[in-house]
Amino acid sequence: MNREILFPTPVYFKMVKDHQKLNKYLFPLIKAWSKKDKGEEKTNAGGGWHSPTDMNFKKEYKPLTDELFAMQEEIYKDYGMESKGALGNMWANMNNPGAYNKQHMHANSQWSGVYYVKVPKNSGSLFVEDPRPGPNLIMPRRVEGLPRALWRVVAYPAIEGQIIMFPAWLPHGVQQNESKEKGEKGCRVSISFNFIQINEDAQVG
Ligand SMILES: [Fe+2]
Repeated sequence: MNREILFPTPVYFKMVKDHQKLNKYLFPLIKAWSKKDKGEEKTNAGGGWHSPTDMNFKKEYKPLTDELFAMQEEIYKDYGMESKGALGNMWANMNNPGAYNKQHMHANSQWSGVYYVKVPKNSGSLFVEDPRPGPNLIMPRRVEGLPRALWRVVAYPAIEGQIIMFPAWLPHGVQQNESKEKGEKGCRVSISFNFIQINEDAQVG
């Protein structure tokens, strides 16, 4: 027999070159920002700091946004998208031990993603879930050892220096930070963002 896989869900990931240098630059900036801004309540829970979502407009984060734009361009080619991606918003997450991010999706966006700045051991993986309502309603009993593409939930261990991007409609969350390290050492730091698609024919005003 033959088989086709239809309606695939792409998850893209890549390591940033010289990420040690980039993270050494980013961490003090984020830490200083968290000390003077009380942050926002979003999907973050259990103790941590979520920055305001205008981080993409702050010039000092250009070394990171350059990397994100380059990857977004590769995705446009791979996924067959016209026009260009624009960075709609971006924010930093500091998850202290006990913190996690509830399962959610990102509205009004095309591609969402994360970059990892600091990842203590056992500080929680990103997980993505099967976005299709049908298979979540009719859940067949299945054998062990299925290939990854057929799993219902897939976890991506956080890796310092890695960018992950996925469709904004893909349900995802972050597991609890179970680091045993104290204070700053146990804090998991990441940067999340949303890309929108520019419509060059759109009427403005
Ligand atoms: Fe998210």
